Amino acid sequence: MKRKSILALLGAACMVSAQAKPQAPLKFDASKSAKSSLTMPDGRIVHYTAYTKQYFVSQVEDSTYQYLNVFVPEGATEQTPIFVRTYIGGYMESTAGYPQAADASGRALAEGYVLVIPGSRGRRSTVKQGKQTLYTGRAPKGLLDLKAAIRYLRHFDRELPGDTEKIIIDGTSAGGAMSALVGATGNHPAYAPLLKAMGAADERDDVFASVCFCPITDLEHADMAYEWLYGGTASRQALPEVQRQLTEELAAQYPAYLNSLGLARPDGRALTADNYRDYIKELLIESAQAAKDAGANIADTLGFSFSAEVAFQAPINGGVGQPPAPAGLPFAPRGMRRGAPQQGEYITGLDLEKYLNYVVTTQPLKGVPAFDSYQVDGAEASGENGLFGDARGSDANFTPWAAGKTGAKLSAELLERVRLMNPMGFIGDAQATNAPYWYLRHGARDRDTAFPIVINLAAQLRKHGRAVDFKLPWNRPHSGDYALNELFAWLKAITR
Ligand code: DHB
Repeated sequence: MKRKSILALLGAACMVSAQAKPQAPLKFDASKSAKSSLTMPDGRIVHYTAYTKQYFVSQVEDSTYQYLNVFVPEGATEQTPIFVRTYIGGYMESTAGYPQAADASGRALAEGYVLVIPGSRGRRSTVKQGKQTLYTGRAPKGLLDLKAAIRYLRHFDRELPGDTEKIIIDGTSAGGAMSALVGATGNHPAYAPLLKAMGAADERDDVFASVCFCPITDLEHADMAYEWLYGGTASRQALPEVQRQLTEELAAQYPAYLNSLGLARPDGRALTADNYRDYIKELLIESAQAAKDAGANIADTLGFSFSAEVAFQAPINGGVGQPPAPAGLPFAPRGMRRGAPQQGEYITGLDLEKYLNYVVTTQPLKGVPAFDSYQVDGAEASGENGLFGDARGSDANFTPWAAGKTGAKLSAELLERVRLMNPMGFIGDAQATNAPYWYLRHGARDRDTAFPIVINLAAQLRKHGRAVDFKLPWNRPHSGDYALNELFAWLKAITR
């Protein structure tokens, strides 16, 4: 099917449910405001004005989710950056909430940013239409809600403080994926008819910066990546033959995909399937080394090797006037505690298989396949299978490989929805306005998706000239909004 007619089909699907009730035009309702305050963990009290329940589309399909809340701290001006925090998790629906002192929303407010918390429909959200229960949050509806929210902020720019040229979006996991999508797909015409049908404002929807914690993204390649990375672990090797076969089939597909991306490392060297594992090792060594330098003890059992010398400090003035060194050491290393691990100062290598086996001890792996599992070897549907399901509540395969296992073929309509949910294809697309600034984090022991997913995202962004701050923070499991000092120092630098 031609792309235009697929879009018409998608658009028509949106309209069917939207036609039911004529709706009021888009408005900003300043009367729904209240003064309030938030006590931060350090006891500081942040005073703000909240403007709540502002519906961001005129054709509201689900009144529980399709509005946003805005929080304006004292002192905010037209130049103040706007921090949008999505609370999407598990690709589920998310109600517009209130600032949380412990996460980036409260911190943003305390730093003086205008804070926006949009609601959005998700894979489990339903509305009643007569006797029918309709799932109205299947992909790409959650993303469309976020894009409509960004458009709304531009539409009512004059009514609220905040600089709509400095919109930052932050999310974790599925929310991190949504943040990546909002960052990558700005103003792309593929979404325009869908947004129009919802009654979204006729405005731009690009953003200035995208903050993505552990994004669960590039879903149609996530199974391959997972088995390519973890297929050699003891836990995968211990699986019954049928599942090991699936692991091998999936893993075997990944090198061709990696090579098709034409990516490079930050130093300019080509990143290919052949050297990819070495690059993962380097990123993990960098992560562990930074933690070690900050005082963490990196256990010997994780797979790292260390330089031979213990922490070394050159003697001041060649040791003149210093007590003699203990036997066996040329100089007395300063600051070395008795009984401290006798590891060298530098991490010199990593046995990646050993490290991956360690990751698996911290949390068991997902099943095979990890994402598009529906009806593959009798496996249950994943959340992602629900995401791509239809309005009647079905689950759906979203990769040709998994669909092929049941003898099915993906429809053009579904393939288009899958495309609209993958930021990778929109980065560098001339019709998209990509966010210029990106902050990507994926914990060094986060196994919810494989490391190459976020590594590829970072590399794809760099390839197209976007500024990327990326690392695999040490000892972090699947989580977000951590190291907020670091995040807000970065935000301050880019918004200056
Ligand atoms: C999330 C986690 C997952 O493992 C996944 O597959 C999708 C989403 C989440 O935490 O949002």
